[in-house]
Amino acid sequence: MLFLKKHLMNEVKILLPESEIPTHWYNIQADMPNKPLPPLHPGTKQPVGPQDLAPLFPMELIKQEVSQEPFIEIPDEVRDIYRQWRPSPLFRARRLEKALDTPAKIYYKYEGVSPSGSHKTNTAVAQAYYNKQEGVKKITTETGAGQWGTALSIACQMFGIECDVYMVRISFNQKPYRKALMNAFGATVYSSPTNRTQAGRNILASDPDTAGSLGIAISEAIEMAVQDEHTKYALGSVLNHVLTHQTIIGQECLKQMEMAGDFPDIIIAPLGGGSNFAGISFPFVADKINGADIDIIPVEPSSCPTMTRAPFGYDHGDTAQMTPLLAMHSLGHNFVPAPIHAGGLRYHGVAPLISHVIRQKLATPRSIDQLECYAAAVQWARTEGFIPAPETSHAIAAAIQEAKKAKEEGKEKVILFNWSGHGLLDLIGYDKYFNGQLTNYSLPQEEIDAATEIMKKYPKPA
Ligand SMILES: Cc1ncc(COP(=O)(O)O)c(C=O)c1O
Repeated sequence: MLFLKKHLMNEVKILLPESEIPTHWYNIQADMPNKPLPPLHPGTKQPVGPQDLAPLFPMELIKQEVSQEPFIEIPDEVRDIYRQWRPSPLFRARRLEKALDTPAKIYYKYEGVSPSGSHKTNTAVAQAYYNKQEGVKKITTETGAGQWGTALSIACQMFGIECDVYMVRISFNQKPYRKALMNAFGATVYSSPTNRTQAGRNILASDPDTAGSLGIAISEAIEMAVQDEHTKYALGSVLNHVLTHQTIIGQECLKQMEMAGDFPDIIIAPLGGGSNFAGISFPFVADKINGADIDIIPVEPSSCPTMTRAPFGYDHGDTAQMTPLLAMHSLGHNFVPAPIHAGGLRYHGVAPLISHVIRQKLATPRSIDQLECYAAAVQWARTEGFIPAPETSHAIAAAIQEAKKAKEEGKEKVILFNWSGHGLLDLIGYDKYFNGQLTNYSLPQEEIDAATEIMKKYPKPA
């Protein structure tokens, strides 16, 4: 295309027309030299089959979960809804570059433009669509910070499906406006753990003051879904099909970087379960597999160091052990992370596909403390002018680290990172930061050892 060939000189925003919304999602499984280990049935310890997952997900999504095709066509109805916010802009952070006096070029993919304010809407719309195709009436889900719950609420609304959201208690209390937003989009929101489920009642009986966790909220949402044939469950991260849907981000970036006349040396994204990291990086991981020299850096909080300190093994995706056993880096399914404000990064596991990418040395994870992330977010707000979500601030902090390193080394590095969502409903965290009420939480090794002990009883991955 002619416009793609044009190299831009001083632009801040690199924009694609609607006609350039990708027509397919990219499935990295097709290009992986070694295949990831399959999920196991918790009873038989054999690989799960499509019928095991059928009570939870529509069959089209199950097919995508195991697909080995490199590209999966995006249905017209989904692309049509994507047009509400896609293609999202790629920005050049010229004002931050100037403030840092760095020779590095910093690009960020701005996913805050979606109706829910983050990348999560990219998969929410796709998942709601396939559920609608199968006649599903209600979808249950969990949410941490509220971004995923918000995304699924609006997606369900667009397809006329009811939506019940189990929101981790700490976030439910910290972020009351998220609940109002989900209600505005037509969803019902519960503070998890609840008394509505056996999983919730068990946790409340043993720890009435629990902060809650994504693992617990997932158990509750699954329990409610399996009880009713017209209800299914949706997950906002971790699973292969969710990661695949997010690759629309990286595919747009490939075109936008070409328009800018640059190619990234470094790609960065925050990582909770792994979906936005996969979204921006997987289309470039394909290049890396073929020899491109790119540093790919997923960033997690030091208080929930799943990728950087947790063992790789089989573990459940939820606390009540209802999900299959997944081969992943995990802090143990009972692990309840410290109540940091990046609620979406408080997950005990990492997507199996990303655990695999890390083990293949295609990505190099990093952990950063909460206070450094807030300092980076504030520097960002005062230069670039947008308020990042606390999750997003992890990528900003890493981008700043890399830009400073480029300055020390006198190298003109090209940094691309995913600006996964805005923080306009997370201002309470900023308020606490300014009042000196936030701390770093470092996790003692004994706590990791104790939390991961439970994984020793599961099959050992080869
Ligand atoms: C804004 C934002 N960024 C990042 C994440 C991390 O999730 P994932 O790793 O699935 O992208 C979340 C999760 O809620 C989020 O809300």
